[in-house]
Amino acid sequence: MTDLKTELATIRAQLDLRLNQALPIPNDLTARVIEAMRYSAIGGGKALRPFFILTTGRLLGVKEEDLWPIAVSLEMIHTYSLIHDDLPAMDNDSLRRGKPSNHIQFDEATAILAGDALLTKAFEHLSSPNWQIDDEKKCRLISLLSCYAGTQGMIGGQMIDLIGEKQSLTLSELKQMQRLKTGALLEFSCIAPCVLASCDSIKETALRRYATCIGLLFQMTDDILDETGQEALVGKTLGKDRKAKKTTFISLFGLEKARETARQLEEEAVQSVAVFGENNLLSAMAHYILIREK
Ligand code: IPE
Ligand code: IPE
Ligand code: MG
Ligand code: MG
Ligand code: MG
Repeated sequence: MTDLKTELATIRAQLDLRLNQALPIPNDLTARVIEAMRYSAIGGGKALRPFFILTTGRLLGVKEEDLWPIAVSLEMIHTYSLIHDDLPAMDNDSLRRGKPSNHIQFDEATAILAGDALLTKAFEHLSSPNWQIDDEKKCRLISLLSCYAGTQGMIGGQMIDLIGEKQSLTLSELKQMQRLKTGALLEFSCIAPCVLASCDSIKETALRRYATCIGLLFQMTDDILDETGQEALVGKTLGKDRKAKKTTFISLFGLEKARETARQLEEEAVQSVAVFGENNLLSAMAHYILIREK
């Protein structure tokens, strides 16, 4: 676990350097939206998605420099999803990553623009000519990320989540929501490096299975923390799923069943990546997600 925590801290620091470079502040009136983008993107969050990209990429033998453009772009999209998720029209949350949400710190319109701009910037970053990899692979990654972030991925899941405030979801609708709203971007982070590697099918299948488990496990523990966590550690307002009458695994099956399912998902995640050797960082991360307090 110490190795994992050190690794996460190193990735966070490197990510911040790169985000800082990618988001320079201009000397004119557009500066405000860049300030808002930087406010949410730099220095906050666990950097789990960049961790998965770098860790699976290294396990597959991809050069680290080729992994960073994917990690930075994905973190931009993840951050945009959080800024919009907190807006009054969505979850109406005033606390994010331990500080006031973007629309509280700035204003609602600026937060909408900052989210939009992070999404756009992500694709500018990913398609940059400075990233010298095979054009076909670059296009494949751009296309994959668009799918995982869009209506067949994160956005689709957010839509089901909002519908789940107004009506109860069936188990299969709930699973689809979890797989899409959170699972999609996490899945992308575990499998995107396969595009850059000459990945054998055993490893790719293992990573895909791991990614599915991690996506579901992560949202399960997010919902458990919303119910039982400590706000000072989690850094966002808790108890809000129940308050908003959201359909979650907990609202349908209760806390104990959610904990039990989370344990099973962790076990399956660990088994899936056994092919990468015992005590690999991916198994350690599955365990960390299960027991996380933030
Ligand atoms: C929170 O994601 C939102 C969900 C997808 C459930 P994280 O818990 O990874 O957020 P940060 O990046 O650490 O703030
Ligand atoms: C949101 O799920 C996931 C995305 C932002 C796509 P939640 O609404 O449960 O996330 P938190 O709990 O606010 O971080
Ligand atoms: Mg939400
Ligand atoms: Mg939310
Ligand atoms: Mg939540």
